[in-house]
Amino acid sequence: MSDKRILLTGVNGQVGFELARSLQGLGTVVALDRAGLDLSSPDKIREVVRSVSPSLIVNPAAYTAVDKAETERDAAHAINATAPGILAEEAKRGGIPLIHYSTDYVYAGDKNGIYTEADPTDPQNVYGASKLAGEEAIRASGCAHVIFRTSWVYGVQGGNFVKTMLRLAADRPALKVVGDQWGAPTSARTIADITAHIVAQAASPQLSGGTSDKGLVWWEAKSGVYHLVAGGETNWAEYAKTIFALKGLGCEVTAIPASEYPVPAKRPSNSRLSTEKLQQTFGIQPPQWEVALRHCLESI
Ligand SMILES: NC(=O)c1ccc[n+]([C@@H]2O[C@H](COP(=O)([O-])OP(=O)(O)OC[C@H]3O[C@@H](n4cnc5c(N)ncnc54)[C@H](OP(=O)(O)O)[C@@H]3O)[C@@H](O)[C@H]2O)c1
Repeated sequence: MSDKRILLTGVNGQVGFELARSLQGLGTVVALDRAGLDLSSPDKIREVVRSVSPSLIVNPAAYTAVDKAETERDAAHAINATAPGILAEEAKRGGIPLIHYSTDYVYAGDKNGIYTEADPTDPQNVYGASKLAGEEAIRASGCAHVIFRTSWVYGVQGGNFVKTMLRLAADRPALKVVGDQWGAPTSARTIADITAHIVAQAASPQLSGGTSDKGLVWWEAKSGVYHLVAGGETNWAEYAKTIFALKGLGCEVTAIPASEYPVPAKRPSNSRLSTEKLQQTFGIQPPQWEVALRHCLESI
């Protein structure tokens, strides 16, 4: 155990919960829930960061109610744009790196092919716009940062598509599920484990180039946006079928177009994200989505 202090936000969220476990052993994890650090209060953010005095900030907390965000623009912006900007300013001030999480929803989702980090962004809903503004605030701060764009997150903690499908299948013989939106279901555990692996690389004498913990210079060299999603691709209907098959449930799934399942926030139809940059930079290949799903379903 090193003497590093890692400030972790949103510990009760899907990813925050897994990060609290994955980051153990890489430092003293100061894991805060909303009561410990309310990200809607800029003053509180500054006060908490300065009192914890961390050597790394990891921020999985976010306003994630995608449909509600359409009518709660200010709240979404406060948590997803303003708060990461202040965390980034504090990181810059303290000379420490910030790890942050963003979303496939920063893209329009109309590309014919797989998205790379170099593709233009064009969010189609309030949540996506607020997350993109958060990314931009982090970049503008000049702090060393790694931003992971992920997609279709599920895990043992919190609510998600997997749990919804299992609940619905318990008393319905058949379901209609959207079949024309494509992406990769990504487990919170995968995101947390890969994050921890990268934090470990920063501290590794072999991987960071000689002396132990290259610190800020290493993080500055790696600073940028990375896609962090599971391998492979599917659509929501096929995803649901896989969940039921793995759980031995007989619920029948009919694929429907998104136009037949109206929701307040528009979703991208193509959320396929290349992880080539993650692999090239950190030598990490995320597991195939079905493998991670099988693993998670053993605990749900
Ligand atoms: N979920 C997805 O499908 C998905 C897809 C793409 C990207 N992402 C991104 O991945 C990251 C992790 O998402 P997730 O699925 O783990 O989210 P999540 O399960 O919804 O957790 C979000 C956490 O943020 C906390 N939070 C919300 N408002 C807060 C505030 N004012 N102050 C402090 N904490 C606050 C929540 O606290 P409470 O527990 O008190 O509500 C919750 O613990 C986020 O950046 C998200 O935008 C998620």
